[in-house]
Amino acid sequence: MPAMSSTACGKLILLGEHAVVYHSPAIAIPLSSLRVRTTVEAAIGQPQGRLQIKAGQLGIDHDLEMLGMEHFLVQTLELLFTYLGVKQRPTCLVTITADLPLSAGLGSSAAIVISLLRAMSAFLGHPLELHDLNELAFQSEKTVHGRPSGIDNTVITYEKPVYYQRGEEPEFLQPSHGYAFVVADTGIRKSTGGSVAQLAADLAANPTAIQPHLDAIADLVREGKRSFQTGDLAALGEAMSADQDHLSALRLSCPELDALVLAARQAGALGAKLTGGGMGGHMLALVTPETETKVSQALLSAGSPRVFTTHLKPAE
Ligand code: PMV
Repeated sequence: MPAMSSTACGKLILLGEHAVVYHSPAIAIPLSSLRVRTTVEAAIGQPQGRLQIKAGQLGIDHDLEMLGMEHFLVQTLELLFTYLGVKQRPTCLVTITADLPLSAGLGSSAAIVISLLRAMSAFLGHPLELHDLNELAFQSEKTVHGRPSGIDNTVITYEKPVYYQRGEEPEFLQPSHGYAFVVADTGIRKSTGGSVAQLAADLAANPTAIQPHLDAIADLVREGKRSFQTGDLAALGEAMSADQDHLSALRLSCPELDALVLAARQAGALGAKLTGGGMGGHMLALVTPETETKVSQALLSAGSPRVFTTHLKPAE
């Protein structure tokens, strides 16, 4: 069997993270410049069924059994083997590398799972259709954090901007305008499962304080969808900043994110907010060609260890 390599992109949530777990809509775009790559190659001369995994960024260099049945990589492969009716594990070496930072709000767990599913299914001679890939990735994401909304696997599988609501068909968006976002790392790594669980506990303990924020975020996303499609940058930026204020009230921001958001806004960003799980990870700012450099410099001066710009082209 020839070696197979596949990649998957990262993602940015423009509006609606966390609320999307509770059936509100959210908007996400692919982050195509940062990717995870998985290579699967036959391991000649190894005992039959020996499947080794190397994933340096995850600290893994083991036989599959050593990871334990609960591990998300094991779960992902078992889901795939069951789906394809594969009885005997292939004798192979799986290598996963990422230039996408992990646990940083950029969709790394979904990207790992999707690149692995793509590479392994191709190696086995049964490349997955996008719909089936998305469904398997969603099942696998459940083992990473208990209640994924499904937005990460959807935007990463299709690599297109998406308006997503749990239980509905995803709506792929065709923006009439190009966008530039400056993305800044806080340098803090947090598990999404932790922030999702904290919000779930807060909501259960105090629904009258929490639910209005979730409802307000849902309204911002619905308005933001129109702004995103028509290219109303000012309105989209305002929606992003208002979303950040609600996420902050929900205890999903942190002082480092707050400092970067403030620096971006003061340097002329049209809007700025955390992206993904929050409590660390990354923030993003909507900029114009005129403000891009100033905002990037302000974020570096405010202490971000890594700042980059990502561009989204208008639909053709
Ligand atoms: O931190 P990330 O990249 O896994 O993004 C999480 C997004 C949430 O809305 C917080 C959770 C979800 O499943 O949608």
